[in-house]
Amino acid sequence: MKHLLKLLDLTSDEIIEILNLADQLKYEQKHGIPHLLLKGKTLGMIFEKASTRTRVSFEAGIYQLGGQGLFLSSQELQMGRGEPIQDTARVLSRYLDGIMIRTYKQDDVEKLAQFGEIPVINGLTDFAHPCQVLADLMTIREYKNKLEGLKLCWIGDGHNMANSLTVGCLKVGMDVSLACPAGFHPAEEVLQFAKDYDNFELVSEPTIAAKDADVLVTDVWASMGQEEEMEKRRVAFKGYQINDELLKLAKPDAIVMHCLPAHREEEITTAVLEAHANVIFDEAENRLHAQKAVMVKLMNN
Ligand code: CP
Ligand code: NVA
Repeated sequence: MKHLLKLLDLTSDEIIEILNLADQLKYEQKHGIPHLLLKGKTLGMIFEKASTRTRVSFEAGIYQLGGQGLFLSSQELQMGRGEPIQDTARVLSRYLDGIMIRTYKQDDVEKLAQFGEIPVINGLTDFAHPCQVLADLMTIREYKNKLEGLKLCWIGDGHNMANSLTVGCLKVGMDVSLACPAGFHPAEEVLQFAKDYDNFELVSEPTIAAKDADVLVTDVWASMGQEEEMEKRRVAFKGYQINDELLKLAKPDAIVMHCLPAHREEEITTAVLEAHANVIFDEAENRLHAQKAVMVKLMNN
């Protein structure tokens, strides 16, 4: 594993190895056991979109590993004035030991990896959010003590989170049931991957997806970059909400997750979010541990 661009590139074993290392690093951090595995290393963090969790967890994470993070707003880089990714990749490779990038096009992340000589980590594109899903799998395993055979229910937009959850969950042996409105289905590449799995379904009715689910997940109706479509999306996504009524269809011990930020009373009610806050904020915390594991795997050579 040279990069983390999308979960489609990882084997099931590689995903499990990251989760195991993440558990170990979490244990060590909680017990005050230092793990300066990336001493002297620098991670560049390019942001073309806003972030709270990704930025702070990567920056704190690399510091806890003995290295340092460099926040690079794309607006302040020459990239923001049109310097090609190919050149940015080759230049940054001369200074840094790894790059995390949050941007729009998946292709830009792939190019950064292709033209650079250092590991590239996808911190969210319109296509994928692999770091979030590694943290999500880690969280599910913490609460359920296993992954294989559990049913994941997705309610909402077939965007980056749905794409990565589908791939990640299928790769670790979970059943995946997505409820997405017409016109908001996951990416074709993901559907192509999923079509070989008979434990995958894409439906339009949230009640079907939620039936007997162990884990229910949702995300905002309008993602970063889609703000102008908000009104249209409010109409299309009406009813695509995790609420108490929907939860009654899931297993009694089902957990609810959300990558955050959440829009209360849109994709999730305040009552459900608050009732499942323990899981949701553990999920946010696990970004730190999962990403530390990814950095160690990629940058500790
Ligand atoms: N979940 C997530 O990626 O959060 P941020 O946008 O705050 O980084
Ligand atoms: N789907 C959301 C996830 C935010 C972490 C977005 O892309 O804005």
